[in-house]
Amino acid sequence: MTVTHVILAIAAGGTLLGAALILIQTFRLGAPPMPSNGKIRHAVSHLVATELVNAGRRNTRIVELGSGWGGLTRRLAAEQPDVPVLGVERSVIPLLWSVLMQRVRGPVNARFQYGDVVESSLVGLLDGPTLHESTRPAEQGSETAGRTIGGRTILVCYLSSEHMKRIGHRIGERRLGREVVLISAAFALYPYEPDRVETLDDLYRTRVYVYRLGAAR
Ligand SMILES: C[S@@+](CC[C@H](N)C(=O)[O-])C[C@H]1O[C@@H](n2cnc3c(N)ncnc32)[C@H](O)[C@@H]1O
Repeated sequence: MTVTHVILAIAAGGTLLGAALILIQTFRLGAPPMPSNGKIRHAVSHLVATELVNAGRRNTRIVELGSGWGGLTRRLAAEQPDVPVLGVERSVIPLLWSVLMQRVRGPVNARFQYGDVVESSLVGLLDGPTLHESTRPAEQGSETAGRTIGGRTILVCYLSSEHMKRIGHRIGERRLGREVVLISAAFALYPYEPDRVETLDDLYRTRVYVYRLGAAR
């Protein structure tokens, strides 16, 4: 066996292991790391920009719940360079890819962290200063990031109806201390009434829901 064979065997083994890990985690999480399509991304990015124009961008951060391979988080961060954008993901391989891409291609206001968005991480995102601490881009030292406590959070997601039921239940359990705007692609947040619904002209006539929750409800 030559060195080339050994390298090829290691690469093939690594790929198989990675694919198996993605499959197992998809099964456990109930949502595959399938990236949203261009129309969904365009709609979400437009709704985020509208929110920032209407309510101002100071004290605002954006969090993507289940950020997959990181494309949407990085896009939103590139489009809103003065706003911290955090992607939270529990599937390890897509998360590692996201971190790598952010390191290589930026943007600096994008960050990724491991977390469960229907359990512990969501509680931190909604209630505590955890999010603020974790979204502060240390290298930026930006004032924007430093003023986010008690500010506004724009949550973005593309998950599943089961996830949205559990997130709705979690939100119902607590009194939100900050204004939260939730933009959900394809799945409604049970049992809340959306503030706005957009129907896209894609194959599935996907709906994108906007909810206003928390302090400014
Ligand atoms: C359909 S993909 C969407 C990816 C990305 N948001 C996009 O629009 O391209 C859903 C992602 O949510 C992640 N996910 C599912 N359940 C999760 C959980 N409880 N905590 C964190 N991430 C989760 C999955 O691993 C997957 O990457």
